[in-house]
Amino acid sequence: MRKNIIIFLVVTCAVLGFAVHSVWTLLTLLFVDGSEDAISRAELPAPNSGAISEVPQLIPKIIHQTYINESIPAHWKGPQQSCIDLHPDYEYKLWTDKKAREFIAAEYPWFLETFDGYPYPIQRADTIRYFVLHHFGGIYIDLDDGCNRKLDPLLAYPAWVRRTKPTGISNDAMGAVPRHPFFLKTIDSLPEYNRKWIMPYITVMASTGPLFLSIIWRHYNNLKPEGDARLRILFPDEYNNHPWSFFTHHLGNSWHNNDVKIIFWMAQHWILITFLGFVIGFSILGCIYTLMIKPRQQNGPPSKSRFSYVRLPFYRRVSQKEFELDDRHKV
Ligand SMILES: *[C@@H]1O[C@H](CO)[C@@H](O)[C@H](O)[C@H]1NC(C)=O
Repeated sequence: MRKNIIIFLVVTCAVLGFAVHSVWTLLTLLFVDGSEDAISRAELPAPNSGAISEVPQLIPKIIHQTYINESIPAHWKGPQQSCIDLHPDYEYKLWTDKKAREFIAAEYPWFLETFDGYPYPIQRADTIRYFVLHHFGGIYIDLDDGCNRKLDPLLAYPAWVRRTKPTGISNDAMGAVPRHPFFLKTIDSLPEYNRKWIMPYITVMASTGPLFLSIIWRHYNNLKPEGDARLRILFPDEYNNHPWSFFTHHLGNSWHNNDVKIIFWMAQHWILITFLGFVIGFSILGCIYTLMIKPRQQNGPPSKSRFSYVRLPFYRRVSQKEFELDDRHKV
């Protein structure tokens, strides 16, 4: 009897341990806020301040954007133009599907097979931004983000991304010097994360999108990068909440399906979901225990018949008696 309980406990611990281990990085995402790497509002010069010209300009003055082709939809032309108008001294690069593929084929041929194999076009739009930041450096901006002020103060940090609530980082506005180790790790990890999940939204998020980037961010920070290798974090207030923030956010995400609503609901109710997960998990374990392990301990006389119960194939168990008879013959 004790042996069964011990086996049951060991198996339970192993299953729980494995489950926690596989989602450990995700769990840490819920508790890490990145404030130690925050670009604080106090160190950012105000718009039009003379101090802007004194900050170092490490990131090259290039703005990268992506779209299927050159015909940008009307509702994104405003935000796009706001960034171009504010930055006449920046180079502007629009990465169409065609240009993106040519660039990967020429500069990162090892990735072309993965790139072509992605089932969703948004995965190519996600990945091309990491590669152009790694290759050219500059600032990547989603087409639904407009510019609210000049981005020059953000050129002072070798690499930065934007924090999202409730958890993680986004890939809709990012800046870096060429060959920054964070984006090197990002592009290097892409093939390994190229997996299919049940819902398209999860597949995109976890293979190339913000969830993928957030997990890479956690792994990267575990190595304790210092100095120029640090990845700095732009918080929501500096991103778009105020007149002195850098961006304005416009609605119109091109690829959000219905499952996005489920994911957002899950993100908002993660405590409830975690709790339910544990309840369901333990209920299943409890059922297994009551149905399969306990009866063996209670029925039948002590050791012998219990073991034969385990050993005998089912078709021989016509009745309890016959079963015991078999057993006796065998032993
Ligand atoms: C650009 O892509 C859009 C969306 O697929 C399409 O409707 C449009 O015809 C394309 N424009 C050109 C010039 O190919």
